[in-house]
Amino acid sequence: MGKSVEKLIERLRGELRRHDHLYYVENSPVVSDQQYDELFAELKQLEGKHPELVTVDSPTQRVGGRPLEGFKTIRHAVAMLSMDNTYSADELREFDKRVRKIIGEQQVRYVVETKIDGVAVSLRYEAGKLVQAATRGDGVSGDDITANIRTLRSVPLVLGKVAAEAKPGPAGDRQGGEESLFEKSRVKVPAVLEVRGEVFMPNSEFRRINAEREQAAEAPFANPRNATAGSLKMLDSREVAKRGLRFLGYSLGEVDVDWAGTHREALEKLTALSVPINPGHELANDIEEVIEICGRWEKNRVELDYQIDGMVVKVDDLAQREQLGQTSRAPRWCIAYKFAAERAETKVKEIVVQVGKTGALTPVANLEPVQLAGTTVSRASLHNFEELARKDVRQGDTVLVEKAGEIIPQVVEVLKEKRPQNSQVFRPPLQCPQCKGTVAKDEGGVYIRCINPACPAQLVERLRHFAGRDQMDIEGLGVSLVEQLVREGLVKSFADVYRLDEQQVAALERMGKKSAANLVKAIEASKNQPLERVLAGLGILHVGRRAAAVLAEEFGSLDALLHADKEQLQAIDEIGPAIAESVYQFCHGETTRNLIEDLRQVGLQMPGQTARKKKGGKLQGKTVVVTGSVADFTRGQLEALIKEHGGKATSSVSKKTTLVVVGENPGSKAKKANQLGLEVMTGQEFLDMLAN
Ligand code: IVH
Repeated sequence: MGKSVEKLIERLRGELRRHDHLYYVENSPVVSDQQYDELFAELKQLEGKHPELVTVDSPTQRVGGRPLEGFKTIRHAVAMLSMDNTYSADELREFDKRVRKIIGEQQVRYVVETKIDGVAVSLRYEAGKLVQAATRGDGVSGDDITANIRTLRSVPLVLGKVAAEAKPGPAGDRQGGEESLFEKSRVKVPAVLEVRGEVFMPNSEFRRINAEREQAAEAPFANPRNATAGSLKMLDSREVAKRGLRFLGYSLGEVDVDWAGTHREALEKLTALSVPINPGHELANDIEEVIEICGRWEKNRVELDYQIDGMVVKVDDLAQREQLGQTSRAPRWCIAYKFAAERAETKVKEIVVQVGKTGALTPVANLEPVQLAGTTVSRASLHNFEELARKDVRQGDTVLVEKAGEIIPQVVEVLKEKRPQNSQVFRPPLQCPQCKGTVAKDEGGVYIRCINPACPAQLVERLRHFAGRDQMDIEGLGVSLVEQLVREGLVKSFADVYRLDEQQVAALERMGKKSAANLVKAIEASKNQPLERVLAGLGILHVGRRAAAVLAEEFGSLDALLHADKEQLQAIDEIGPAIAESVYQFCHGETTRNLIEDLRQVGLQMPGQTARKKKGGKLQGKTVVVTGSVADFTRGQLEALIKEHGGKATSSVSKKTTLVVVGENPGSKAKKANQLGLEVMTGQEFLDMLAN
């Protein structure tokens, strides 16, 4: 029995490692996310039952552990040097000349690699196991970020375990046994192997995280590199695990044996040991080929899902590298070729202040239109007033704009020497630019907000968000229509959207009969959107799509959520204290009940899945009848509450009933319960029991 469980656990681990490798390294997954999650859950359950069989290299051990107090400093066994930069073909030719002057007659081949714009890290494997991961720091010592790096599924925790297995092929067609794997890959695992490479955030992940942050009223990251650096600095590795970071290796630190004769050979061996390596590398026979390769990548860089800021040119032959040596700062055998930054110079026509759906005021620069990386840029976010003050951007300034992750244009720098005389410092507004309402700064945060709940600009943003594709998905309810509806006073709340009729809509600018009919149809259809979309649409501070989905799954109904206490909210995995507090405040806000009642009245169904059955819920296996009124709960709310605690709510008392709750002004059911000798509780006792 013991043996077979052990085998099953090892098999599951092997499968999961193989899928991680196929997904993150080979880019060719063979199972769906759901199938992966199921395997993972199975392993987790088995390990839960057999904690003695848990090993540090199990895929379940990646999810992150307790937060650290701080990072330890680690001295690198081999210093992490920096690199000299070049910016033109001629500078590359000069580099080549310097190299050949030292090397002499021999041919010098170069490997040309993409220069990934992330954070350099060094991974240390001892006897094939990942024992330490460190940032570059000052090159001599860096931070110990092992716990964070372990959460990256592209980083093998054990070298070589999946390399041979992972070759695409029918899922069942694998031979087990570690030895045969090593034999197949023919790569001996060195006693010490340090792999150096870049941790980065893919563009798609950067967009997802920034969208989430904006929704949660947190300042967005300026670019994927900052997002990566910020993520790796987090002390709570469970948070890091959610950031979708990747790793690609490109060089070696300490290795205890003579491992390879050329850089390419080292890369091949790393691949055989299942370490993902920079896929953007090519061999060049001379410097002209190097220049051609650099030019090609510079043109095609936008096709990658990650940021590269140039190319790295490295002498391939490691003996030649020895001969070339290094200066105190950088090796002589490699050089970076930096792409011309995708920056452009333009003028700030004016600085305007936008009001977001949570009232956050965001300064935006309206620019003289300028071409940048293939598009015309005429606006750039200045993020928040602290950021604006730091850069001291003023109306009339000449600025450099850059695209962050080819995505959002932003002002990187003011060219102060071109500043017109008498220019004025831009001061944060003292009142809402739209409704003239009071503004207040977030406690401990960076945002200034309009706190007038009736601010029409906020209403427009809230409605736009509510109708958005990821929320209620009301096609046709775009920004100009929302603005008109608010301006005309036709819509003052979410529920008002559902009160619109075709005639009213058809009478608006640029609306015909047909488009009005389509809109009303789309509005009608959205009444059946599931609870999680409604929750995401309400614009509760910090509650984005993900948190909404978690809450909907956890509580199953809006009523159950509305009655949740803080402890319940805080106990949910994935719901942090800020979200829990904000949801609690929302649920107990003065206007919330009306808002919800209103939405119900106009016909929103908000179907939720039945709340997750909690094992050992207070009412597990109980059939409960409530008679009379309990606090201010409606019948539906009480039913949801009972379900949430694992019980079943019925309306009539019978022998099957296990608990009768007697509220204010009870009916005859209370008497019947006594006659049948059933367990009886007052409304208050019932609530107390559930709360404890
Ligand atoms: S090799 C002696 N290869 O660029 C340094 N570095 O600006 C050897 N980088 O600190 C580094 N992609 O973080 C190398 N393919 C690549 C790279 C790369 C990105 C980073 C690395 C380094 C920085 C220097």
